[in-house]
Amino acid sequence: MLRYLTAGESHGEYLAGILEGFPAGVKMPAGYLAAQLNRRRTAAGRSARQALEKDEFKILAGLDRDITTGAPLAILIKNASRKVPPPSSLPRPGHADLPGMLKYDTMNAALIRERASARETAMRTALGSFAMRLNELLDIEVNSRVTNLGGLCGLTAASAAQELLRARNAGDTLGGEFEITFSNVPAGLGSFEHPDRRLGARLAAAMLSINGVKGFEIGGGFALAAMRGRDAAGWPELSGGLDGGMTNGRELTLRCAVKAVPGLRAGSPATDLRTFRKKLSVSETSDTTAVFAAAVVAEHAASLEIAGALLEKFGGDSLGELAPRVDAWRKKTGKILRKL
Ligand SMILES: Cc1cc2nc3c(=O)[nH]c(=O)nc-3n(C[C@H](O)[C@H](O)[C@H](O)COP(=O)(O)O)c2cc1C
Repeated sequence: MLRYLTAGESHGEYLAGILEGFPAGVKMPAGYLAAQLNRRRTAAGRSARQALEKDEFKILAGLDRDITTGAPLAILIKNASRKVPPPSSLPRPGHADLPGMLKYDTMNAALIRERASARETAMRTALGSFAMRLNELLDIEVNSRVTNLGGLCGLTAASAAQELLRARNAGDTLGGEFEITFSNVPAGLGSFEHPDRRLGARLAAAMLSINGVKGFEIGGGFALAAMRGRDAAGWPELSGGLDGGMTNGRELTLRCAVKAVPGLRAGSPATDLRTFRKKLSVSETSDTTAVFAAAVVAEHAASLEIAGALLEKFGGDSLGELAPRVDAWRKKTGKILRKL
Protein backbone atom coordinates (compact mmCIF):
# COMPACT_ATOMS: atom_id res chain seq x y z
CA MET A 1 0.00 0.00 0.00
CA LEU A 2 1.29 3.43 -0.98
CA ARG A 3 0.45 6.05 1.63
CA TYR A 4 1.64 9.48 2.59
CA LEU A 5 1.39 12.09 5.31
CA THR A 6 2.21 15.77 5.31
CA ALA A 7 2.77 18.21 8.17
CA GLY A 8 3.75 21.84 8.53
CA GLU A 9 2.29 25.31 8.56
CA SER A 10 2.35 27.94 5.85
CA HIS A 11 4.88 30.14 7.68
CA GLY A 12 6.52 27.52 9.90
CA GLU A 13 10.15 26.59 9.44
CA TYR A 14 9.49 23.55 7.23
CA LEU A 15 6.86 21.43 5.54
CA ALA A 16 7.43 17.73 6.19
CA GLY A 17 6.24 14.70 4.25
CA ILE A 18 6.56 10.93 4.32
CA LEU A 19 5.81 8.55 1.46
CA GLU A 20 5.63 4.91 2.50
CA GLY A 21 5.26 1.77 0.40
CA PHE A 22 7.25 3.14 -2.54
CA PRO A 23 9.32 0.50 -4.35
CA ALA A 24 13.12 0.30 -4.48
CA GLY A 25 15.14 0.90 -7.64
CA VAL A 26 13.46 4.07 -8.92
CA LYS A 27 16.08 6.55 -10.07
CA MET A 28 15.17 10.17 -9.51
CA PRO A 29 17.16 12.17 -12.06
CA ALA A 30 18.96 15.23 -10.68
CA GLY A 31 16.61 18.18 -10.69
CA TYR A 32 13.44 16.12 -11.23
CA LEU A 33 11.77 16.98 -7.93
CA ALA A 34 12.96 20.61 -8.05
CA ALA A 35 11.51 20.97 -11.55
CA GLN A 36 8.10 19.74 -10.38
CA LEU A 37 8.12 22.12 -7.40
CA ASN A 38 9.08 24.95 -9.75
CA ARG A 39 6.15 24.19 -12.04
CA ARG A 40 3.79 24.65 -9.09
CA ARG A 41 5.58 27.70 -7.70
CA THR A 42 5.88 29.60 -10.97
CA ALA A 43 2.47 28.72 -12.42
CA ALA A 44 0.58 31.64 -13.97
CA GLY A 45 -1.44 33.84 -11.63
CA ARG A 46 0.62 33.41 -8.49
CA SER A 47 1.39 36.10 -5.94
CA ALA A 48 4.57 37.89 -4.93
CA ARG A 49 5.16 35.29 -2.19
CA GLN A 50 6.27 32.82 -4.85
CA ALA A 51 9.17 35.07 -5.82
CA LEU A 52 10.34 34.80 -2.22
CA GLU A 53 9.80 31.06 -1.89
CA LYS A 54 12.57 28.90 -3.30
CA ASP A 55 11.10 25.54 -2.21
CA GLU A 56 14.53 24.39 -1.03
CA PHE A 57 14.11 20.79 0.00
CA LYS A 58 16.02 17.99 1.64
CA ILE A 59 15.36 14.28 1.21
CA LEU A 60 16.16 12.83 4.61
CA ALA A 61 15.47 9.15 4.03
CA GLY A 62 14.60 6.51 1.46
CA LEU A 63 17.20 7.39 -1.20
CA ASP A 64 20.66 6.03 -1.87
CA ARG A 65 22.52 8.08 -4.49
CA ASP A 66 19.28 9.22 -6.15
CA ILE A 67 17.78 5.71 -6.22
CA THR A 68 14.92 4.75 -3.93
CA THR A 69 15.69 1.99 -1.43
CA GLY A 70 12.13 0.90 -0.58
CA ALA A 71 12.37 2.57 2.84
CA PRO A 72 9.92 5.39 3.65
CA LEU A 73 10.87 8.60 1.86
CA ALA A 74 11.07 11.61 4.15
CA ILE A 75 11.20 15.14 2.74
CA LEU A 76 11.53 18.62 4.23
CA ILE A 77 10.75 21.81 2.31
CA LYS A 78 11.95 25.08 3.78
CA ASN A 79 9.54 28.01 4.00
CA ALA A 80 11.27 31.24 3.05
CA SER A 81 8.27 33.31 4.09
CA ARG A 82 8.13 33.20 7.92
CA LYS A 83 5.77 36.13 8.55
CA VAL A 84 3.06 34.41 10.60
CA PRO A 85 -0.17 36.42 10.34
CA PRO A 86 -1.13 38.21 13.59
CA PRO A 87 -3.88 36.71 15.81
CA SER A 88 -7.31 37.60 14.47
CA SER A 89 -10.87 36.76 15.50
CA LEU A 90 -12.11 37.69 12.03
CA PRO A 91 -12.72 34.59 9.88
CA ARG A 92 -12.12 35.27 6.18
CA PRO A 93 -15.08 34.19 4.05
CA GLY A 94 -14.45 31.37 1.59
CA HIS A 95 -11.65 29.97 3.74
CA ALA A 96 -11.35 27.26 6.39
CA ASP A 97 -11.29 29.99 9.08
CA LEU A 98 -14.86 29.86 10.47
CA PRO A 99 -15.43 26.08 10.59
CA GLY A 100 -11.82 25.63 11.75
CA MET A 101 -12.22 28.13 14.61
CA LEU A 102 -15.42 26.40 15.73
CA LYS A 103 -13.86 22.96 15.39
CA TYR A 104 -10.66 23.73 17.32
CA ASP A 105 -12.36 26.05 19.82
CA THR A 106 -10.18 29.04 19.10
CA MET A 107 -10.76 32.75 18.53
CA ASN A 108 -7.58 32.92 16.48
CA ALA A 109 -8.18 32.48 12.75
CA ALA A 110 -4.41 32.66 12.13
CA LEU A 111 -3.98 29.25 13.78
CA ILE A 112 -6.42 27.77 11.30
CA ARG A 113 -5.18 29.42 8.14
CA GLU A 114 -1.59 28.40 8.77
CA ARG A 115 -2.34 24.71 8.21
CA ALA A 116 -5.39 25.10 5.95
CA SER A 117 -3.26 27.12 3.51
CA ALA A 118 -2.48 25.68 0.07
CA ARG A 119 1.22 25.91 1.00
CA GLU A 120 0.70 22.25 1.98
CA THR A 121 0.31 21.40 -1.70
CA ALA A 122 4.04 22.02 -2.20
CA MET A 123 4.67 18.86 -0.16
CA ARG A 124 1.99 16.91 -2.02
CA THR A 125 3.75 17.90 -5.23
CA ALA A 126 7.12 16.75 -3.84
CA LEU A 127 5.77 13.37 -2.73
CA GLY A 128 3.75 13.01 -5.91
CA SER A 129 6.83 13.56 -8.06
CA PHE A 130 8.10 10.14 -6.90
CA ALA A 131 4.82 8.58 -8.04
CA MET A 132 5.00 10.50 -11.31
CA ARG A 133 8.54 9.21 -11.88
CA LEU A 134 7.49 5.60 -11.16
CA ASN A 135 4.55 5.90 -13.57
CA GLU A 136 6.84 7.44 -16.19
CA LEU A 137 9.27 4.50 -15.88
CA LEU A 138 6.29 2.26 -16.56
CA ASP A 139 5.54 4.33 -19.70
CA ILE A 140 2.50 6.07 -18.24
CA GLU A 141 2.32 9.72 -19.23
CA VAL A 142 0.42 12.43 -17.36
CA ASN A 143 -0.49 15.84 -18.76
CA SER A 144 -2.62 18.72 -17.63
CA ARG A 145 -4.03 21.83 -19.25
CA VAL A 146 -6.17 24.70 -18.06
CA THR A 147 -9.33 24.75 -20.18
CA ASN A 148 -11.15 27.69 -18.65
CA LEU A 149 -10.00 30.79 -16.80
CA GLY A 150 -12.74 32.85 -15.23
CA GLY A 151 -15.18 31.67 -17.93
CA LEU A 152 -12.73 32.23 -20.79
CA CYS A 153 -12.10 29.09 -22.90
CA GLY A 154 -9.74 28.45 -25.81
CA LEU A 155 -6.89 30.00 -23.83
CA THR A 156 -3.46 30.84 -25.14
CA ALA A 157 -0.58 31.84 -22.86
CA ALA A 158 -1.05 35.43 -24.05
CA SER A 159 -4.83 35.58 -23.54
CA ALA A 160 -4.48 34.00 -20.08
CA ALA A 161 -1.78 36.49 -19.11
CA GLN A 162 -3.96 39.37 -20.32
CA GLU A 163 -7.00 38.09 -18.40
CA LEU A 164 -4.91 37.67 -15.25
CA LEU A 165 -3.46 41.15 -15.56
CA ARG A 166 -6.93 42.62 -16.02
CA ALA A 167 -8.21 40.81 -12.92
CA ARG A 168 -5.15 41.74 -10.86
CA ASN A 169 -5.41 45.42 -11.83
CA ALA A 170 -9.08 45.36 -10.82
CA GLY A 171 -8.15 43.79 -7.45
CA ASP A 172 -10.12 40.70 -8.43
CA THR A 173 -9.40 36.97 -8.61
CA LEU A 174 -10.41 34.19 -11.02
CA GLY A 175 -11.42 30.54 -10.92
CA GLY A 176 -11.25 28.07 -13.76
CA GLU A 177 -11.13 24.50 -14.93
CA PHE A 178 -8.33 22.10 -15.75
CA GLU A 179 -8.11 18.70 -17.36
CA ILE A 180 -5.69 15.90 -16.55
CA THR A 181 -4.99 12.94 -18.81
CA PHE A 182 -3.06 9.75 -18.16
CA SER A 183 -2.15 7.70 -21.22
CA ASN A 184 -1.02 4.08 -21.48
CA VAL A 185 -2.50 3.13 -18.10
CA PRO A 186 -2.84 -0.68 -17.85
CA ALA A 187 -6.42 -1.96 -17.79
CA GLY A 188 -7.84 -3.35 -14.56
CA LEU A 189 -6.38 -0.92 -11.99
CA GLY A 190 -8.82 -0.25 -9.14
CA SER A 191 -11.79 -2.46 -8.38
CA PHE A 192 -15.57 -2.63 -8.20
CA GLU A 193 -15.43 -5.06 -5.29
CA HIS A 194 -15.79 -2.46 -2.58
CA PRO A 195 -16.62 1.28 -2.63
CA ASP A 196 -13.27 2.39 -1.23
CA ARG A 197 -11.37 0.42 -3.85
CA ARG A 198 -13.01 2.16 -6.81
CA LEU A 199 -10.27 4.11 -8.54
CA GLY A 200 -12.71 6.84 -9.61
CA ALA A 201 -13.61 7.44 -5.96
CA ARG A 202 -9.95 7.60 -4.98
CA LEU A 203 -9.16 10.03 -7.77
CA ALA A 204 -12.17 12.15 -6.79
CA ALA A 205 -10.94 12.32 -3.19
CA ALA A 206 -7.43 13.20 -4.34
CA MET A 207 -8.72 16.03 -6.56
CA LEU A 208 -11.35 17.41 -4.18
CA SER A 209 -8.79 17.53 -1.36
CA ILE A 210 -6.85 20.19 -3.27
CA ASN A 211 -7.67 23.60 -1.81
CA GLY A 212 -10.28 25.43 -3.86
CA VAL A 213 -11.25 22.44 -6.07
CA LYS A 214 -15.05 22.31 -6.01
CA GLY A 215 -16.01 20.18 -8.99
CA PHE A 216 -14.79 16.90 -10.42
CA GLU A 217 -15.67 14.92 -13.54
CA ILE A 218 -14.45 11.75 -15.17
CA GLY A 219 -14.79 11.55 -18.95
CA GLY A 220 -18.20 12.87 -20.03
CA GLY A 221 -18.90 13.83 -16.41
CA PHE A 222 -21.95 16.01 -15.86
CA ALA A 223 -22.76 16.02 -19.60
CA LEU A 224 -23.57 12.31 -19.27
CA ALA A 225 -26.71 13.25 -17.34
CA ALA A 226 -28.34 14.48 -20.57
CA MET A 227 -27.26 11.47 -22.61
CA ARG A 228 -29.77 8.84 -23.76
CA GLY A 229 -29.21 5.12 -23.37
CA ARG A 230 -29.44 4.78 -27.15
CA ASP A 231 -26.28 6.85 -27.46
CA ALA A 232 -24.45 4.00 -25.79
CA ALA A 233 -22.17 3.64 -28.79
CA GLY A 234 -20.41 6.72 -27.48
CA TRP A 235 -19.84 5.29 -24.04
CA PRO A 236 -16.29 4.05 -24.52
CA GLU A 237 -15.18 7.62 -25.32
CA LEU A 238 -17.30 9.18 -22.60
CA SER A 239 -16.23 6.84 -19.81
CA GLY A 240 -12.96 8.76 -19.43
CA GLY A 241 -10.92 5.57 -19.10
CA LEU A 242 -12.79 4.20 -16.09
CA ASP A 243 -15.67 1.75 -15.94
CA GLY A 244 -16.91 0.15 -12.73
CA GLY A 245 -14.12 1.75 -10.71
CA MET A 246 -11.41 0.21 -12.93
CA THR A 247 -9.22 1.48 -15.72
CA ASN A 248 -10.38 0.10 -19.08
CA GLY A 249 -7.17 0.57 -21.06
CA ARG A 250 -8.25 3.86 -22.62
CA GLU A 251 -6.90 7.31 -21.83
CA LEU A 252 -7.90 8.45 -18.36
CA THR A 253 -9.48 11.92 -18.41
CA LEU A 254 -10.26 13.93 -15.28
CA ARG A 255 -11.57 17.48 -15.07
CA CYS A 256 -11.76 19.81 -12.08
CA ALA A 257 -13.41 23.15 -11.36
CA VAL A 258 -11.47 25.54 -9.14
CA LYS A 259 -13.21 28.42 -7.40
CA ALA A 260 -11.93 31.98 -7.60
CA VAL A 261 -9.28 32.67 -4.95
CA PRO A 262 -11.25 34.03 -1.98
CA GLY A 263 -8.52 36.33 -0.59
CA LEU A 264 -9.02 39.80 -2.08
CA ARG A 265 -6.58 42.68 -1.94
CA ALA A 266 -9.31 45.01 -0.66
CA GLY A 267 -10.63 42.41 1.81
CA SER A 268 -14.12 40.90 1.99
CA PRO A 269 -17.06 41.55 4.32
CA ALA A 270 -16.73 39.38 7.44
CA THR A 271 -17.99 39.18 11.04
CA ASP A 272 -15.65 39.37 14.03
CA LEU A 273 -16.38 36.39 16.30
CA ARG A 274 -15.56 38.32 19.50
CA THR A 275 -17.63 41.44 18.86
CA PHE A 276 -19.99 40.23 16.09
CA ARG A 277 -19.22 43.51 14.34
CA LYS A 278 -19.08 43.52 10.56
CA LYS A 279 -15.66 44.41 9.19
CA LEU A 280 -13.55 43.87 6.13
CA SER A 281 -11.41 40.74 6.49
CA VAL A 282 -7.69 41.42 6.32
CA SER A 283 -6.49 42.45 2.91
CA GLU A 284 -3.74 40.21 1.62
CA THR A 285 -1.39 39.57 -1.20
CA SER A 286 -3.12 36.65 -2.80
CA ASP A 287 -2.71 34.68 -5.97
CA THR A 288 -4.88 36.04 -8.80
CA THR A 289 -5.86 32.50 -9.67
CA ALA A 290 -5.01 29.08 -8.25
CA VAL A 291 -6.13 27.15 -11.33
CA PHE A 292 -2.74 26.82 -13.04
CA ALA A 293 -0.92 25.82 -9.83
CA ALA A 294 -3.78 23.51 -8.83
CA ALA A 295 -3.45 21.68 -12.17
CA VAL A 296 0.20 20.94 -11.37
CA VAL A 297 -0.68 19.81 -7.83
CA ALA A 298 -3.47 17.65 -9.25
CA GLU A 299 -1.10 15.89 -11.67
CA HIS A 300 0.94 14.85 -8.66
CA ALA A 301 -1.98 13.99 -6.38
CA ALA A 302 -3.53 11.84 -9.15
CA SER A 303 -0.14 10.24 -9.91
CA LEU A 304 -0.01 9.04 -6.30
CA GLU A 305 -3.38 7.31 -6.77
CA ILE A 306 -2.34 5.71 -10.07
CA ALA A 307 0.99 4.53 -8.63
CA GLY A 308 -0.85 3.17 -5.56
CA ALA A 309 -3.29 1.27 -7.77
CA LEU A 310 -0.42 -0.13 -9.87
CA LEU A 311 1.37 -1.36 -6.75
CA GLU A 312 -1.82 -2.93 -5.44
CA LYS A 313 -2.44 -4.82 -8.66
CA PHE A 314 1.08 -5.88 -9.55
CA GLY A 315 2.86 -5.82 -6.17
CA GLY A 316 6.62 -6.05 -5.87
CA ASP A 317 9.12 -4.29 -3.65
CA SER A 318 11.34 -3.03 -6.44
CA LEU A 319 10.90 -1.58 -9.90
CA GLY A 320 12.74 -4.65 -11.20
CA GLU A 321 10.00 -6.84 -9.82
CA LEU A 322 7.11 -4.59 -10.84
CA ALA A 323 8.04 -3.63 -14.41
CA PRO A 324 8.05 -7.14 -15.99
CA ARG A 325 4.67 -7.86 -14.38
CA VAL A 326 3.20 -4.72 -15.90
CA ASP A 327 4.74 -5.62 -19.29
CA ALA A 328 3.33 -9.16 -19.19
CA TRP A 329 -0.10 -7.81 -18.25
CA ARG A 330 -0.05 -5.26 -21.07
CA LYS A 331 0.84 -8.01 -23.56
CA LYS A 332 -1.95 -10.23 -22.30
CA THR A 333 -4.69 -7.59 -22.14
CA GLY A 334 -3.42 -5.89 -25.32
CA LYS A 335 -4.31 -8.98 -27.33
CA ILE A 336 -7.96 -8.38 -26.47
CA LEU A 337 -8.05 -4.58 -26.26
CA ARG A 338 -6.45 -4.10 -29.69
CA LYS A 339 -9.26 -6.10 -31.31
CA LEU A 340 -12.09 -4.00 -29.85
C1 LIG B 1 -1.89 26.25 -5.26
C2 LIG B 1 -3.00 27.02 -4.60
C3 LIG B 1 -2.80 28.35 -4.24
C4 LIG B 1 -3.81 29.07 -3.61
N1 LIG B 1 -3.57 30.38 -3.28
C5 LIG B 1 -4.53 31.09 -2.65
C6 LIG B 1 -4.30 32.45 -2.28
O1 LIG B 1 -3.24 33.01 -2.54
N2 LIG B 1 -5.29 33.12 -1.62
C7 LIG B 1 -6.48 32.52 -1.32
O2 LIG B 1 -7.34 33.16 -0.75
N3 LIG B 1 -6.74 31.24 -1.68
C8 LIG B 1 -5.79 30.51 -2.33
N4 LIG B 1 -6.03 29.21 -2.68
C9 LIG B 1 -7.35 28.64 -2.41
C10 LIG B 1 -7.59 28.44 -0.94
O3 LIG B 1 -6.49 27.78 -0.36
C11 LIG B 1 -8.86 27.68 -0.68
O4 LIG B 1 -9.91 28.20 -1.41
C12 LIG B 1 -9.19 27.76 0.81
O5 LIG B 1 -8.20 27.02 1.52
C13 LIG B 1 -10.55 27.24 1.17
O6 LIG B 1 -10.61 25.89 0.91
P1 LIG B 1 -11.72 25.30 -0.03
O7 LIG B 1 -11.90 26.30 -1.11
O8 LIG B 1 -11.11 24.04 -0.53
O9 LIG B 1 -12.94 25.10 0.77
C14 LIG B 1 -5.04 28.47 -3.32
C15 LIG B 1 -5.25 27.12 -3.68
C16 LIG B 1 -4.25 26.41 -4.33
C17 LIG B 1 -4.47 24.98 -4.71
